[in-house]
Amino acid sequence: MSEKDKEQKQGKNISRRSFIKGVGTGTVAATVAPAILVGDEKAAEAQTDEAVASAKIQLNINEEVTEIEVEARTTLLSVLRDGIDTTGNNVDLTGAKLICDKGECGGCTVLVDGKPVYACMMLAMDAQGKQITTVEGIANGDDLHPVQEAFIKHDALMCGFCTPGFVVSSVALLNENNKPTIAEIKEGLSGNTCRCGTYPFIFDAVETASQEM
Ligand code: FES
Ligand code: FES
Repeated sequence: MSEKDKEQKQGKNISRRSFIKGVGTGTVAATVAPAILVGDEKAAEAQTDEAVASAKIQLNINEEVTEIEVEARTTLLSVLRDGIDTTGNNVDLTGAKLICDKGECGGCTVLVDGKPVYACMMLAMDAQGKQITTVEGIANGDDLHPVQEAFIKHDALMCGFCTPGFVVSSVALLNENNKPTIAEIKEGLSGNTCRCGTYPFIFDAVETASQEM
């Protein structure tokens, strides 16, 4: 076999995937370079996957710091509902609901630095360094938030699946504007959907809460 043939054969041992991964970023390239140079594709892929697939992060959730290992693709909602922290405890904050999983229903709404955010659309890694408040963190100990009290008073739920999202969005709305008009309440809650159609009761509840706050 000629030298040229040998070089071509060796080149085929480095897959396109490994090559792209290897040159994609400086840090990744530095990590995988030795394995690629010796033509050890499996080792290169393992090193690369390890480098880009997961990381240990800290999230401030309901004023508690949670350390958790996440993949780059893990959403904040996934951490809240199904995450296991580095001490082996379930995060277990299931108030935010997984309904549409594509930023359309508002069932997964949480506060991030006080603003309502669809947790299904936010990567966990992007939530680092921010204050995350879930519906579980809205009440003050045993004292329900006025919005929660008003939802109960007005019977503003049927199946209840959308309710945590509406409560969180309502709190965000009233924190911004504590005396909204009905039109402003409708506008402020327009990112949340209730398939049971309890909108009139929800709007009444928010109006009542605004008088209490
Ligand atoms: S589950 Fe996130 S917006 Fe619907
Ligand atoms: S109460 Fe059932 S979806 Fe809103």
